[in-house]
Amino acid sequence: MQIAFDAFGTLFDLEWLRKPARDLAGERGDELYEGFYSRLQPWTWLATAAEAYRPLPELARAAFESAAAELELDVEAGALADRLTELPLFPEVERALDSLGGHRLAVLSNGTADGLEQLLANAGIRDRFEHVLAADSVGRYKPAREVYALAPSAFGVEPEAVTLVSGNPWDAAGAKLAGLRSVWVSRGKPLAPVLDVTPDEVVAELTDLTFAGAS
Ligand code: LAC
Repeated sequence: MQIAFDAFGTLFDLEWLRKPARDLAGERGDELYEGFYSRLQPWTWLATAAEAYRPLPELARAAFESAAAELELDVEAGALADRLTELPLFPEVERALDSLGGHRLAVLSNGTADGLEQLLANAGIRDRFEHVLAADSVGRYKPAREVYALAPSAFGVEPEAVTLVSGNPWDAAGAKLAGLRSVWVSRGKPLAPVLDVTPDEVVAELTDLTFAGAS
């Protein structure tokens, strides 16, 4: 089986950014992080729909600056976007990857190729993946089909032979709409279909992935 992993919120814990946000903005750090987070994904969709693509590090910088402006914080919030390459792995990631020997693995993310290479290298897991596939190579963000299409194209297989694993429900739905299989990593949240699309499988955490019998 060919397995493509989403990065932010799936392999990497974006919430870790709360910590540098608190270091910068003190007791308003959580609000700053939440203002950033509430903008980030909708802005990727806005940039794609408006055909105004900007790479994720720039978009994240702008989202932090906008959140700070709304909160009337006089801090260099944009610099927090630089910390995106330092995010920690969710605790079970390495054990989960260990158990997937024999499968072909990729990362398929809305990040940039450079940023993802740094992030994966910093976390010590770059060599686990045959391909690092980034939205900046097509200048659009998931759920645009062109981004999902990078995975079957890189593996040289049909879309239905690739499973996207994502902690983001909209991403698991987007993969299905693009013809891939998908697994949603729920981390304890209940399943709520997106656009009436449900993933092929739901697992509580990455160590529950099995792909038993899949080739
Ligand atoms: C990514 C975001 C969607 O890594 O989590 O693509």
